[in-house]
Amino acid sequence: MALKGKVTVVGSGFYGSTTALRLAEYNIFETVVLTDIVEGKPEGLALDMNQSRAIEGFETKIIGATTTAEGAGYEATANSDVVVITAGLPRKPGMSRMDLIGVNAGIVRGVAENIAKHSPRAVIIVVSNPLDEMTALAQIATGFPKNQVMGQAGMLDTARFTNFVAEKVGVPVGSVKTLTLGSHGETMVPVPSRCTVDGKPLSEILSETEIADLVDRTRNGGAEVVALLKTGSAYYAPSAAAARMAKAVIEDSGAVMPVCAWVDGQYGIEGVYLGVEAEIGKSGVRKVVESALTASEVDALKVAAEAVRAKQADVKEL
Ligand code: 2OP
Repeated sequence: MALKGKVTVVGSGFYGSTTALRLAEYNIFETVVLTDIVEGKPEGLALDMNQSRAIEGFETKIIGATTTAEGAGYEATANSDVVVITAGLPRKPGMSRMDLIGVNAGIVRGVAENIAKHSPRAVIIVVSNPLDEMTALAQIATGFPKNQVMGQAGMLDTARFTNFVAEKVGVPVGSVKTLTLGSHGETMVPVPSRCTVDGKPLSEILSETEIADLVDRTRNGGAEVVALLKTGSAYYAPSAAAARMAKAVIEDSGAVMPVCAWVDGQYGIEGVYLGVEAEIGKSGVRKVVESALTASEVDALKVAAEAVRAKQADVKEL
């Protein structure tokens, strides 16, 4: 298949560089651009990744570009089809994602403005934390249509939930289906009514307490990794999630995934970026997909919407 399209990953930390490599190894993009403000880091990583091409057998070319907050170096990202924004600080043990809002807002706003100048048609995938707020901010800073900006969280939280269920029940992850909606934080909404093991409802396999424990572990999935790593946060599962979203965009696949998308009317929720299932294509979010949830799950989603709405209003001033 001919390679096509250009994807930029902003930020060459573990999350960004792993995302860039995953995207390159798909061998579907013509170009992956990796940027960072640390001089030489993206160029060095790109050189190293390109040298792996002959072994791993992919032709995608990786370009590294040092950028500045003032916008130097962004020419390398021009006319990207997709941009994954990983820029910003990760959590330290004991921190909530919300503790990063002040510092990361400044970083994400600057990046988003520079990206918008050079790639006006790019679909933006935000992964910086706090996720729901940084996604809202990126939309404001780019001025892009709301469907052209989305955030990565639901894919990751759902993958964590699936892994925990598979381990608990002792089945392959491929036998398990789960779903996580809401915010990527305190008001995350794991959806047990949509969880199955080999097609059977999870409630027929595990007790209520066992399911509640897995839901709780999923909600704290990121913090559990941060506490173990001590410096930095998770990046293998997060990068896998972000890369799959970028792949769905470039392939215009119409895949339905849990993502942070602009919700306006679905589930009776108006005007807020929130974790929901959405159909992804080359325009970004083609549509939010409403599915059958229990009344208490819809209530939890509404609580999440109000929690993130308040914070998303704050980011306009940051
Ligand atoms: C996580 O949950 C990085 O927020 C991301 O691990």
